[in-house]
Amino acid sequence: MSSGIARREGEPALPNPSARELSHIPGENGIIGFGHTLDHLKDTGAFARNMTERYGPVFRQRCWGTTQIGLMGPEANELVLKNRSNVFSSRLGWKPNFERLFPQGLMMMDFEEHRFHRKLISVAFKPAVMATYVDRLNALVADTVAQWTSQPFVDLYPALKDLTLRLAAAPFLGVELGPKATELNLAFTELMKASVSPLRKPFPFSQMKRGTDGRNVLVQYLQSEITGRRGSKRTDMFSVLANATDENGNSFTDVDVVEHMIFIMMAAHDTLASSGTAFIAEIAQDSAWQDRLRQQILTTLFDPSAIQYEELGALTDIEMAFNETLRLHPPLSNTPRRALESFQFGGYEIPKGSHVWISANYTHTMPSIWPEPTRFDPARFEANCVKQRHRYAWIPFGGGAHKCIGLHFAYMQIKILASQILANASVSLAQNNAPEWQPWPLFKPKGTLLAAFERGRQSRHLTKFPMAAE
Ligand code: HEM
Repeated sequence: MSSGIARREGEPALPNPSARELSHIPGENGIIGFGHTLDHLKDTGAFARNMTERYGPVFRQRCWGTTQIGLMGPEANELVLKNRSNVFSSRLGWKPNFERLFPQGLMMMDFEEHRFHRKLISVAFKPAVMATYVDRLNALVADTVAQWTSQPFVDLYPALKDLTLRLAAAPFLGVELGPKATELNLAFTELMKASVSPLRKPFPFSQMKRGTDGRNVLVQYLQSEITGRRGSKRTDMFSVLANATDENGNSFTDVDVVEHMIFIMMAAHDTLASSGTAFIAEIAQDSAWQDRLRQQILTTLFDPSAIQYEELGALTDIEMAFNETLRLHPPLSNTPRRALESFQFGGYEIPKGSHVWISANYTHTMPSIWPEPTRFDPARFEANCVKQRHRYAWIPFGGGAHKCIGLHFAYMQIKILASQILANASVSLAQNNAPEWQPWPLFKPKGTLLAAFERGRQSRHLTKFPMAAE
């Protein structure tokens, strides 16, 4: 899709390769006018599998009005994500989706500019800072789990969306819950909805217009607050970024801090809501793994309602179960890039300017790598199994220079959530059949997915391991 948005100063003017220049790559144009857009919307993983079966791991298709080249499998992931020769632009890949709402987010930067910003942002993800987020998470999650266990059923996806919204207010912005947090959350919700809206222009009454209005509310709030955060000792992510410096004394401008905060909140929000929903749904359906996780939680943590940062590393079973959830349900399945130079892959010359994409969903279900690919089996992530696989066979967090900077935050949140749920309750789904999922643009259940959190119903043979101090 052409973004219709001006080029940034210094941005290369890339050709859009013509149909003739791409005709040597096997593929098809799809339905007149729509191309394969509807197939992507319906099930992007199934689309990638069908096209690969028909044309091989390098194929041509039309989507969102643009001819695109799909590159499938771990070798393609490695080529694109490692990006050794700086051939692939993340900024130009994501531009159609992000330019209007997140023009200066980290994924909208390349190479030198990206390295500089990423290094400074990484201050907010250092272990010492992450440890300060844990207390806020403990309190938020405890409150949430108390609500869930007091209801007969919880509609999982909206409940996880609500939790991650509250997360945006507390650990990220440092705003206590109240009218201001509610106003910011509303603005943020509209911004999130706009980020996945197929209509990319802010026409009156459109979702994109509500999204850009929501963005303005957040920008105004963050700008008005920033002076008070500079020099403060506050430990929320906003304040940490406002005070971040590198070894040369560089720090962010006000605009940088505001833009990075908005982007980080977006990057965390839907991915955590989606993966948290899928994780709870998977363990709700697998009582053996649910018991195994609970056993580790009860024998490892001193007090699951007040988890310490140092304890998180020992929760390896949760990590494996979460990894397997992300294999089956990667929240961000497709990674788009634009080729700044022509390159070779799979025996094809792919011209400069091509829009290319790789698929986590496709790679994560390749039977040659993942036997019985649809089965939930966290044991696939035992260390000895991981060692035998291609390093780019599992890419829910991407890889290379743009690899998710928030991945430890994601594990931290899931571990705290799982620990507080499983130490207090058992979880099951209201329905007997396996849930249905909508994989694109962001992974979520089709319709409602009800779960029951029952206090005191956790397996009776599991008891808290006596701690040395007890
Ligand atoms: C399970 C949860 C998450 C998943 C699956 C996920 C996935 C991803 C992926 C695939 C990318 C790379 C995209 C690309 O290469 O084009 C990425 C980048 C990013 N993620 Fe996450 N993410 C998650 C959670 C988070 C959280 C919690 C945060 C922040 C607290 C976050 C912040 C970011 C940022 C800032 C980037 C851009 C990195 C860069 O361009 O250098 N993510 N994420």
